Amino acid sequence: MKRLLGAVVVVLIAIQFVPYGHTHTNPPVIAEPHWDSPETRALFQRACFDCHSNLTSYPWYAHIAPMSWLLQRDVSGGRQHLNFSEWNRPQRHAKDVAEQVDSGSMPLWFYLPMHPAARLSPAEIQELVAGATKSLGPQAK
Ligand code: HEC
Repeated sequence: MKRLLGAVVVVLIAIQFVPYGHTHTNPPVIAEPHWDSPETRALFQRACFDCHSNLTSYPWYAHIAPMSWLLQRDVSGGRQHLNFSEWNRPQRHAKDVAEQVDSGSMPLWFYLPMHPAARLSPAEIQELVAGATKSLGPQAK
């Protein structure tokens, strides 16, 4: 038992040296959508910006593997699919925002326990969906 525990500790220390997950970048914000209101932006910021913008706030556990790997994967994948800070370039998933939020697919469920502020009430979901239609422009169609 003691030996097993020792092995677990050694592995936990060793994985901290894996290079993946250490870069906590926030590239410059180039262009945001033309938000129809500050409230719409605030909803998106609360629920989506950590993974879909260049304004990610990295929590303390972003420095600790294996959480750092999951986080890196979500931020890289999220930004690749949809980035509210790079609205200057085509965002082919903009049209899917309303559906993803309406169906409860986004924000990703496992993000919510650690980020209670990202939890949207049914009324807020409706506001966000309405705001998305008005704000995300031709890319949302
Ligand atoms: C914890 C990180 C995270 C949060 C928070 C998050 N997303 Fe995502 N999102 C992702 C990742 C990663 C993908 C890439 C595809 C996948 O893994 O499902 C994605 C994909 C998407 C897509 C493309 C889906 C498709 O394939 O059609 C849309 C649209 C989207 N997200 C919208 C949102 C919106 C709107 C919010 C806020 C209400 C949000 N996401 C919050 C991580 C996140």
